[in-house]
Amino acid sequence: MDNSRKYLLNFKGCNFERTLVDMKILEKLDDFEIRDDDVFVITYPKSGTVWTQQILSLIYFEGHRNRTEKWDTLDRVPFLEYNIRNVDIENRPSPRLFASHLPYYLAPKSLKNNKAKIIYVYRNPKDVLISFFHFSNMVVKLEASNTLENFMEKFLDGKVMGSLWFDHIRGWYEHKNDFNILFMMYEDMKKDLRSSILKISSFLEKDLSEEEVDAIVRQATFENMKFIPQANYNSILKNEFGTRNNEGAFLRKGAVGDWKHHMTVEQSERFDRIFQEEMKDFPLKFIWDLNDEANSNHSAK
Ligand code: PPS
Repeated sequence: MDNSRKYLLNFKGCNFERTLVDMKILEKLDDFEIRDDDVFVITYPKSGTVWTQQILSLIYFEGHRNRTEKWDTLDRVPFLEYNIRNVDIENRPSPRLFASHLPYYLAPKSLKNNKAKIIYVYRNPKDVLISFFHFSNMVVKLEASNTLENFMEKFLDGKVMGSLWFDHIRGWYEHKNDFNILFMMYEDMKKDLRSSILKISSFLEKDLSEEEVDAIVRQATFENMKFIPQANYNSILKNEFGTRNNEGAFLRKGAVGDWKHHMTVEQSERFDRIFQEEMKDFPLKFIWDLNDEANSNHSAK
């Protein structure tokens, strides 16, 4: 039975989580006023959003870096369309930092040809699929799937929050010249967090001392983030999302290549065929497994 409408709300062709999405914001997105110093982290779900929110927050807020001001990352870098804590996003003091899963065509009109900066983080879609499968089974706000096969079907049909992965990344990439945008790959961040943080801070024109960079790297590793209450989203999971069995974590494994432990050879090959068809001529490269890096390229493995 197709239960997706119970959980998903389709707005102008894109699926949103029905109870968390802020309709008032969605309906006014076209006119949402962007400031030159606004910064957005934009992702397809399960691609490294929370991680990049934490990095942005650590770059911008000294009180976060030295842990004297203990706000949740989500309050410092709220979601635009999932404004679950009702932050007054319009009147926040600058610089405003936002997270979003919006597709390019729903982005506020004035984000185009604007100095405001976007960091688009992407991740190999087999790991996105696995992360999304576990997440959907864990939180009550999303539809659970009995089997990976069942979830893979929904994912490849775009019947999930965020709609179709292929459309999301293609849309943003193909319209990159309309925006002030930096593309970051999850797997590169995993391979070399320090260089990735330097790349992000240079794009943001933020001069950081060695010690500041050290503090950011330290607090953005998976192992440390898991234990930082402001960063690990545990309270959000408990209070705002709700879990099906009081188990599980937003920060689940944080690994590259976990798909190999979950997909059958047949599923993986089917995924590869679809990936190759959908992503032919797409220039960004993907890394499917860190051990296999010599073979990494833009085709699926
Ligand atoms: S969401 O729900 O869309 O906001 O999820 P998102 O934050 O985009 O993705 C969640 C996955 O990112 C992993 N994660 C990290 N990986 C490596 N290092 C760090 N510091 C980190 N922080 C979050 C998180 O564990 C989810 O991936 P999986 O594969 O499920 O572990």
